[in-house]
Amino acid sequence: MGSGKTTAARSAATALGTEPVDVDREVELRLSKPIAQIFAEDGEPAFRATEEEVTIELLRERPGPAVVSLGGGAVCSGRVRQALGQRQLVVWVDVDPDTAWARVQGSGRPLASDHATFARLYAEREPIYASVADVTVPAERSEQMAAVLSALGDLPAGDRVLWAASASGDYPAYMGRGLLTAGRFWPPQLEGRRFLVTDGTVGRLYGDAFSGLAARVAVMPGEQSKTVAHAEIVWTELARAGMTRDDIVVALGGGVVGDLAGFCAATYQRGVRYVQIPTTLVAQVDSAYGGKRRSSLPATQRSSKRL
Ligand SMILES: NC(=O)c1ccc[n+]([C@@H]2O[C@H](COP(=O)([O-])OP(=O)(O)OC[C@H]3O[C@@H](n4cnc5c(N)ncnc54)[C@H](O)[C@@H]3O)[C@@H](O)[C@H]2O)c1
Repeated sequence: MGSGKTTAARSAATALGTEPVDVDREVELRLSKPIAQIFAEDGEPAFRATEEEVTIELLRERPGPAVVSLGGGAVCSGRVRQALGQRQLVVWVDVDPDTAWARVQGSGRPLASDHATFARLYAEREPIYASVADVTVPAERSEQMAAVLSALGDLPAGDRVLWAASASGDYPAYMGRGLLTAGRFWPPQLEGRRFLVTDGTVGRLYGDAFSGLAARVAVMPGEQSKTVAHAEIVWTELARAGMTRDDIVVALGGGVVGDLAGFCAATYQRGVRYVQIPTTLVAQVDSAYGGKRRSSLPATQRSSKRL
């Protein structure tokens, strides 16, 4: 409620050359009255029963791509979650509760009549949305589904994508088991020669997952490699291998490699693109992500990493 999923559905449908279908609207058509009236005259359980029926029908296989915009409470049904789990790509348009409340208060929606009820619903539903989502898109990017969809490629079951929005550029973050060995860590449309920066330990463990690299640069593992002297080694190796501004630095390792390679990418020829492949928990949940320190601007942007 209030996330902008109708907008996101329209945007996705336009990108896919189809028309979006809205479950709430279909329920209203089926029961021949607006949702507020259904709640008032028939009660929420009656609305939920029709919503479940309509949603499952709409999720059935159909020719060509279909974009279905679900009601906010639809995923509370086990049968709907089961249907979603079978074949569908589920996009969660993630909105913070204050923004959502500011958008829906006073709108006359039955479940947005008071702040306490709204906040409780949000808290109850958020973990359910997180559990069913294959792709998470922040609400402020709900109109930019074409870019999101183009980053998905043929997303295998179990892989997840978080669309990261930052002031200095958006990028996809891919999560899943075996991404590296299966080569599924790369945005499908991203082209350019790849220059790998890693450390000795990680390079030995995972370096074989890469083929066709323009160069490999390995520093000593550990904190002592996060210095300007090591940055100079990396710059020199990149230059020796002929890296240009059209090429891409690939940072494979923990926070040290990510910080060092990011800094080098940001400062090489006034900045080149880079992709982070974080191999430690610290890097996976913290240092590889942009925003707070503008630390991760892979794929589509010139980077501006700070050590
Ligand atoms: N930029 C940021 O926002 C940010 C945030 C948090 C931390 N950091 C920085 O990150 C650094 C710490 O990162 P870290 O904890 O990842 O340390 P690290 O990069 O030094 O890695 C720790 C050790 O683990 C090894 N290693 C890495 N991946 C491995 C794997 N998959 N299997 C086996 N060994 C592996 C490395 O070779 C290294 O010896 C610090 O320099 C810190 O300042 C930066």
